[in-house]
Amino acid sequence: MALISDSRELLRRIDVFSDLQGADLERLAALLQEVSYRREEIILHKEDPGDSLFIIRQGRVKVVLYGDDGREVILSILRDGDFFGEMSLLDGEPRSAFVVAMEDSCAYILKRDAFLDTLMERPMIALKILGELSRRLRLADDKIGSLALLDVYGRIAGALLQLARTEGKVEGDKVIIDSRPTQQEIASMAGASRETVSRVLSDLAKSGLISMEGKRVIITRDLHELRDVHGERVSTT
Ligand code: CMP
Repeated sequence: MALISDSRELLRRIDVFSDLQGADLERLAALLQEVSYRREEIILHKEDPGDSLFIIRQGRVKVVLYGDDGREVILSILRDGDFFGEMSLLDGEPRSAFVVAMEDSCAYILKRDAFLDTLMERPMIALKILGELSRRLRLADDKIGSLALLDVYGRIAGALLQLARTEGKVEGDKVIIDSRPTQQEIASMAGASRETVSRVLSDLAKSGLISMEGKRVIITRDLHELRDVHGERVSTT
């Protein structure tokens, strides 16, 4: 009973499901199964068949690809209230990427048939899912542009901007990222080495664009200045 009321509350808080009410909300909440993962545990394997949608109740996960040499590229970081695993359900193809827990996390799972029935019965939910997929495509476009067009300095500034956009809190003219990924993870987001990330972060701190307090990053001046660092290095060749 506690689980159903927890999952009902979670569904209410998630934008894409927030229109569900009454019996519809109860029905969907009753179909969710809770699962827990330890930090570093692989939740989804690329190329596996997919039969479920995941909604993160608590924690953070990374969507990643691995090269043959084990190098990691982080495509996205998802957190409380985000969903993943929808792509295989929508196109019937295998999982498009690995999803790995970045911290101890728990999620609710919704089976394929229940997810697809919900989309067909509720066009508003389908539209909101399309909206979220468009947002993710924009972020992916930014990342492709960054990786192809910017030098490493711009790519790392771009990764910080992406974190600011997805999880930053605005306080006056500052944007605060409460729990930044590790330097190795920022390196995997920006296609850089950990050593370069360390050097660029301290350069940005010295020039007063950011300040760092442990895991906190404060973008101290106007966010546009950081974006300028990102943009002015776009190669024209
Ligand atoms: P699926 O392909 O079923 O399994 C892997 C999941 O990772 C995928 O569904 C999406 O939910 C998620 N995913 C893949 N690529 C991205 C991306 N670029 N940004 C955010 N999430 C992604």
